[in-house]
Amino acid sequence: MAYYSFAPILLLAFASTTPYTAASVRSGSQIQWGACDPSVVNDTSLSCGFLEVPLDYQDPLVGRARLAIIKANATGERRGSVFFNPGGPGNTGIQVVNDNKEELLEVTGGVYDIVSWDPRGVGNRTSPGEVFCFDSLAEYSTFFNGTIELTGIEETGNFTDPADVQVLLEQAPIMQEKYEEVGQKCLHSSSGKFLKYIGTAATVCDMVSIANVLDGPEAPINYLGRSYGTLIGSWFVNMFPERVGRVILDGVFDPIAFATQEPGSTFSGQRVSADTIYKALLTGCALTGPSGCAAASEGDGPLDIDAEVQALLKTAYDATKDNSSVPMTPGDIRLALWGEMYFPVDWSSFVNEEYPQIVQIVDGEAPANKSRAFRKRSNNLNPLHRRKALVKRSSESNDSPSYTTSAIYCADSIDPQGTTMEDVFKGIISATRNVSHMFGSLWPFPVYCSFWPVRSVERYQGPFNKKLANKILIASNLLDPITPLPAAETLAGLLGQDAVLVRQNSFGHTTVSAPSACMNEIFIAYMTNGTLTANGTVCEVDADYEIFAGMNTADILANMPSTDI
Ligand SMILES: *[C@@H]1O[C@H](CO)[C@@H](O)[C@H](O)[C@H]1NC(C)=O
Ligand SMILES: *[C@@H]1O[C@H](CO)[C@@H](O)[C@H](O)[C@H]1NC(C)=O
Ligand SMILES: *[C@@H]1O[C@H](CO)[C@@H](O)[C@H](O)[C@H]1NC(C)=O
Ligand SMILES: *[C@@H]1O[C@H](CO)[C@@H](O)[C@H](O)[C@H]1NC(C)=O
Ligand SMILES: *[C@@H]1O[C@H](CO)[C@@H](O)[C@H](O)[C@H]1NC(C)=O
Ligand SMILES: *[C@@H]1O[C@H](CO)[C@@H](O)[C@H](O)[C@H]1NC(C)=O
Ligand SMILES: *[C@@H]1O[C@H](CO)[C@@H](O)[C@H](O)[C@H]1NC(C)=O
Ligand SMILES: *[C@@H]1O[C@H](CO)[C@@H](O)[C@H](O)[C@H]1NC(C)=O
Ligand SMILES: *[C@@H]1O[C@H](CO)[C@@H](O)[C@H](O)[C@H]1NC(C)=O
Ligand SMILES: *[C@@H]1O[C@H](CO)[C@@H](O)[C@H](O)[C@H]1NC(C)=O
Repeated sequence: MAYYSFAPILLLAFASTTPYTAASVRSGSQIQWGACDPSVVNDTSLSCGFLEVPLDYQDPLVGRARLAIIKANATGERRGSVFFNPGGPGNTGIQVVNDNKEELLEVTGGVYDIVSWDPRGVGNRTSPGEVFCFDSLAEYSTFFNGTIELTGIEETGNFTDPADVQVLLEQAPIMQEKYEEVGQKCLHSSSGKFLKYIGTAATVCDMVSIANVLDGPEAPINYLGRSYGTLIGSWFVNMFPERVGRVILDGVFDPIAFATQEPGSTFSGQRVSADTIYKALLTGCALTGPSGCAAASEGDGPLDIDAEVQALLKTAYDATKDNSSVPMTPGDIRLALWGEMYFPVDWSSFVNEEYPQIVQIVDGEAPANKSRAFRKRSNNLNPLHRRKALVKRSSESNDSPSYTTSAIYCADSIDPQGTTMEDVFKGIISATRNVSHMFGSLWPFPVYCSFWPVRSVERYQGPFNKKLANKILIASNLLDPITPLPAAETLAGLLGQDAVLVRQNSFGHTTVSAPSACMNEIFIAYMTNGTLTANGTVCEVDADYEIFAGMNTADILANMPSTDI
């Protein structure tokens, strides 16, 4: 069966009908384009509008949702629209189009209007909007005071010390109770009654609704999705295979893993390349030396710099054991490093500005200033971390962390199978030992869905190998910290003749994490002419793009030590 739902009655209803047809997502009202809200969009060449859609596509009586949409006009002769989702889940299409209009128009050939929107659960223009489960940051901090939610998980030696294991497992019943209580708080918040209408299947239907209005109910739908946006993409092409136009999926989430496992366990596996990317950072730093990388000393190799980082983590660990309210815990440091794994473009500034400051804070030589060590990146494609997202988001009135990312993952997730927090923690321990020594223990991570109280009324769980109206293009970095190459290979394998897979020889999250004229040309030729490159094509990153002074991606890849980190 295509998909299922919590409610057995709906399950029957779905089984007896063909759920997704062009007609089931009717074109309704028009979109009145006008100026965008200047508090988020400062590019006046962009237009914004709204479209009302059913909250529940299976039950029009439930009410309406309202989608906030943004459009960048094609620069060349217009051939229709290309829809764009920036991932997250929970990132705002409106802001990302404002910030990246030129890049999006370029890679899609300039012949389509770029159309994006704030999906359900995102921002305060779309309704239902951003999900908050606490009224304020103070309430959140008090609620989680004294727990790993605020400090992160402490471990040394790849989580091999039985004492660390014991300390973590002792927290399991407490954290389970907290997470269950958070679930109830979310359910009883003002977002609560909308939680079951948030999720990827509804978002796919929303995109089709917008396309029906803009380009007509028969027109092929073009789409560019990055990161979690590839899950929207793989659901879309399989839910509406006859509507598939030109589709690029970059930085792939494995839809089968997502449909069959709890997100907590898929995420552990997704970090297979993360430590290798950390090693790339060390390698670049060592190659460029102290003049270009303040984290290196003269003559250091990558493993020497790693030894320094491990020593720093140990110092922070010991200090946290003595006094749990230290300004910078080892978990904080891992979180800061983890953010870097997404954006090599930021490495030079990280090792020269932020890292020395982290060292000073840990050594007690500088006052704590996490806002600097965790500065928010304007183009953060994947703010997976709640504490990193403590920055005010989308609401003037509520400064508490957004739960939108959890709300979307968990709405789509498989049903809870009685997983306990102890199971979750054991998974973290094993991921730290077996998958990523550096980043296996990150907490919080918004994917622990066993304790989330709601599932979406619509979920797509496969099949993922439908015959598509047009061939699609799948792109992946060689090394991606969270959407690794094997996931892209899985999706390409499922789609067989209907997908071409291209790889970029670089590290970072999605191929946009490094510039490649080769990859751009492949995207442009496909989007403009439908020309597909040979399956398995490998692109290099532009040689003049330097990550550290005098050091480019190829230099780093050629010099990586073979030793494990
Ligand atoms: C919008 O604001 C950003 C950041 O302040 C700036 O870099 C950009 O040039 C502005 N764009 C326009 C079109 O004014
Ligand atoms: C975008 O294109 C439409 C249709 O050609 C036109 O009416 C509109 O004025 C354009 N918008 C901008 C901001 O140039
Ligand atoms: C956290 O607990 C400590 C002691 O248990 C207390 O001193 C502190 O005020 C609490 N902080 C918050 C934000 O509730
Ligand atoms: C983690 O395990 C790797 C591989 O076995 C090893 O090289 C490394 O030294 C360990 N790290 C720590 C901090 O113990
Ligand atoms: C623990 O660290 C906090 C913050 O740095 C400090 O205010 C407090 O006095 C320390 N407590 C002890 C017992 O040293
Ligand atoms: C912390 O860093 C931020 C960003 O660089 C800066 O605006 C702020 O003044 C700093 N705060 C302290 C206490 O140094
Ligand atoms: C919506 O969010 C923007 C910032 O993204 C803010 O300026 C505006 O005041 C918010 N509106 C409401 C009603 O909260
Ligand atoms: C690590 O993986 C091995 C086999 O790949 C498995 O036998 C072992 O149980 C795993 N360790 C943990 C701690 O999960
Ligand atoms: C492209 O290669 C992948 C293996 O990497 C394969 O699974 C897929 O079916 C191939 N696609 C085409 C169109 O041959
Ligand atoms: C698209 O095809 C036309 C005609 O064959 C060709 O002139 C043009 O260069 C192609 N554009 C791209 C981006 O490949």
